[in-house]
Amino acid sequence: MKIGTIIVAIALFSATAYSQNTACLVCHSAAAHKAHPTAQVVDTTILSGSAHAQAVCTDCHTINAGSNHKGNRVVFCARCHQKEAEGFNRSPHVKGRQANIEKLPTCITCHGGHDVKKVADPLSPTHHDNSVKICIKCHEDAKVTAQVEKLPKPAVIKAYEKSVHGRELMDRGNEQAPGCVDCHGSHSFLPADEPESPVYKTHIAETCGQCHRAIAATYDESVHGKALAEGVLESPTCTSCHGEHDIRPPTDSTSRVFKGHVAKTCSDCHASEKIVARFGLKPDRIATFQESFHGAAGQLGDLRVANCASCHGVHDIFAQSDPRSKINKANIEVTCGKCHKDLPADFAKASVHTSASDPASGGEFFVRKFYIWFISALILLFLIYRILEYKRRVKRVGMSGQ
Ligand code: HEC
Ligand code: HEC
Ligand code: HEC
Ligand code: HEC
Ligand code: HEC
Ligand code: HEC
Ligand code: HEC
Ligand code: HEC
Ligand code: HEC
Ligand code: HEC
Ligand code: HEC
Repeated sequence: MKIGTIIVAIALFSATAYSQNTACLVCHSAAAHKAHPTAQVVDTTILSGSAHAQAVCTDCHTINAGSNHKGNRVVFCARCHQKEAEGFNRSPHVKGRQANIEKLPTCITCHGGHDVKKVADPLSPTHHDNSVKICIKCHEDAKVTAQVEKLPKPAVIKAYEKSVHGRELMDRGNEQAPGCVDCHGSHSFLPADEPESPVYKTHIAETCGQCHRAIAATYDESVHGKALAEGVLESPTCTSCHGEHDIRPPTDSTSRVFKGHVAKTCSDCHASEKIVARFGLKPDRIATFQESFHGAAGQLGDLRVANCASCHGVHDIFAQSDPRSKINKANIEVTCGKCHKDLPADFAKASVHTSASDPASGGEFFVRKFYIWFISALILLFLIYRILEYKRRVKRVGMSGQ
């Protein structure tokens, strides 16, 4: 197409747009206000400054200029934005209408009316830097969340603002950090229990992996990632260890993955009788760890000692039999050697998860057994002594006649 033709086309388009709009503006413009005082004045500069500069009134309003249209506020965004509308129609924001839930958003709540801006415009409410504010207006409002029992309470969502992601995005302006829509999608917002949702358990690693690509790839190969992919829903995904809206850096002492809290995080499952029995896992891992030197020192706040992840890995956890496992016979010396220098030859062979109540632990077992017998005997002897002494006193009192 030649430049001339383009200019003529634009001119023609604008002319038709103008004439089509004129049919409405005869009543809805400032100039017409005197003659039509009840007709709302439409500022066309807002429209021409919006993403819809090219649209005419009837693209969005199905209104016949000639007839009375009081009460007709229906707007058809879906006509041109089918993809977004399709997603939106599947969302709980639309489905909630059937349950008469109030305060549900429509296209206009999030995008505006005549002033719709391109998402890329930093002034747009839907721009990445701003869109969290749309969501928290409702999801941090108890009046909205109280309507639906399963909606997270405002405090749960508020935790996002203090999370590593919220701080990076909202306080530090790091555009790489996720807002609500990066994890939930921008229109369908499917609930976590729908298998197609980006926050359904089996999709979470992929959702986080949009940004944490290398970690997600490592995790996918791990015993936990593989099990989850095979349908073991009890196996952890990113959020099982990190949380969802309250994700914090491992260096933060309130984080679930802070050194001092890792054992607790693993124990959610590895100390759970149900999970341990179901997957044939060793049931004593947490108890034996807590009894161990590392566990005991860790509980006293020593952060230098080993936690579960120091020996098993973090995103690269494997069964001991797997050659990639840090506790595999071939790798164990390196694993202990990270912290223990100049190891004696058989150092790493010492059982880690042993309990003093297990004969396999050798010396510890017999020392424990000895003490149990010794202390029991001591208590028994003491009791016999007390009884004999009591009897003698009773006898003496009787003799003195008091
Ligand atoms: C991109 C779609 C779109 C276009 C184009 C559009 N409108 Fe609208 N209009 C809207 C939306 C959205 C609303 C808000 C509806 C609501 O709040 O329920 C609205 C509201 C209105 C209202 C009610 C205003 C009020 O204050 O209550 C009038 C009157 C109106 N439009 C007239 C027009 C006229 C005249 C034109 C053409 C010059 C036009 N519109 C072009 C989408 C559009
Ligand atoms: C003859 C004058 C006239 C013309 C022409 C006209 N309108 Fe209106 N319009 C009105 C009046 C008056 C109202 C206010 C009705 C009321 O609320 O009392 C109104 C209200 C509206 C509303 C808001 C409806 C509501 O109840 O809030 C919209 C949207 C609207 N007009 C769009 C348009 C569009 C689009 C056109 C062109 C296709 C148009 N109007 C043409 C007089 C007109
Ligand atoms: C105008 C208020 C409002 C706004 C704005 C809003 N929501 Fe909602 N949202 C709700 C209500 C009310 C529900 C409950 C609907 C239902 O379950 O019937 C809901 C449901 C949800 C759900 C599904 C919860 C579930 O278990 O069914 C998600 C996820 C969600 N919203 C995320 C968002 C995100 C992300 C944003 C911002 C882009 C947002 N919402 C903006 C009011 C709002
Ligand atoms: C709860 C708020 C919310 C609602 C409701 C909503 N949107 Fe959006 N929309 C957004 C956000 C946020 C973005 C930016 C997404 C991003 O950053 O990728 C967006 C992006 C868009 C885009 C740009 C292209 C794209 O898909 O990213 C279009 C077009 C759009 N929305 C149209 C609509 C239409 C039409 C409706 C109603 C059927 C609607 N939206 C309902 C929040 C919303
Ligand atoms: C007549 C068709 C039409 C209607 C009706 C319409 N739009 Fe659009 N919309 C467009 C076109 C065309 C664009 C510009 C696309 C572009 O420049 O890439 C656009 C752009 C947008 C954008 C910016 C997309 C981006 O890439 O950032 C949003 C958001 C949007 N529309 C939302 C809406 C909403 C909300 C409504 C209803 C109030 C609506 N649209 C009604 C045709 C329409
Ligand atoms: C880093 C990713 C991430 C971010 C950012 C995020 N969420 Fe979530 N959100 C999740 C995950 C994962 C779940 C699922 C929790 C579960 O399994 O119960 C969830 C659950 C929800 C739910 C309940 C859904 C349901 O069906 O139970 C709502 C509502 C919600 N988030 C709103 C928000 C809002 C609002 C924001 C922004 C302030 C936000 N989320 C930011 C990951 C995120
Ligand atoms: C849109 C991209 C994006 C998504 C999606 C995302 N993150 Fe992040 N994440 C970041 C950015 C950016 C940072 C802050 C910079 C950094 O430390 O890497 C961060 C930081 C973190 C940190 C702290 C890292 C540290 O060393 O302090 C953890 C943990 C984390 N994210 C976990 C997750 C989990 C789990 C999910 C999914 C539920 C997720 N992220 C989803 C971008 C993302
Ligand atoms: C079995 C529990 C567990 C699972 C599952 C898990 N993490 Fe982690 N993650 C941790 C622990 C523990 C740390 C802290 C390691 C440390 O102290 O250096 C950590 C650290 C991180 C860090 C910050 C340090 C770094 O290595 O950059 C990010 C980012 C992260 N995880 C993201 C993810 C993502 C994304 C997923 C899912 C693909 C995931 N994690 C799955 C336990 C887990
Ligand atoms: C959400 C529950 C959950 C959490 C949290 C969890 N695990 Fe697991 N873990 C499992 C399940 C289930 C399996 C069995 C997977 C399978 O089917 O092979 C498993 C398997 C393992 C295995 C392989 C065991 C074997 O016998 O093959 C090791 C090692 C392991 N986990 C260590 C850890 C460590 C270390 C942590 C903490 C950083 C942790 N797990 C956190 C549920 C969990
Ligand atoms: C000092 C290093 C170390 C620490 C700390 C440690 N483990 Fe282990 N873990 C091992 C070694 C070595 C084995 C294999 C030998 C054994 O069973 O004692 C093992 C075995 C396991 C197994 C069985 C793996 C298999 O393939 O059979 C699980 C599950 C496990 N540990 C979980 C945990 C959990 C959960 C924690 C934290 C509460 C933890 N471990 C702390 C070194 C450690
Ligand atoms: C993250 C670092 C770290 C890792 C990895 C680690 N340890 Fe330790 N371990 C410590 C610290 C710190 C102490 C306390 C030593 C001290 O106070 O001198 C300790 C103490 C011990 C002790 C008791 C005190 C002693 O020196 O005899 C034993 C036994 C032990 N570790 C065995 C192991 C074995 C076996 C492995 C590998 C399976 C291992 N550790 C891996 C940090 C670690």
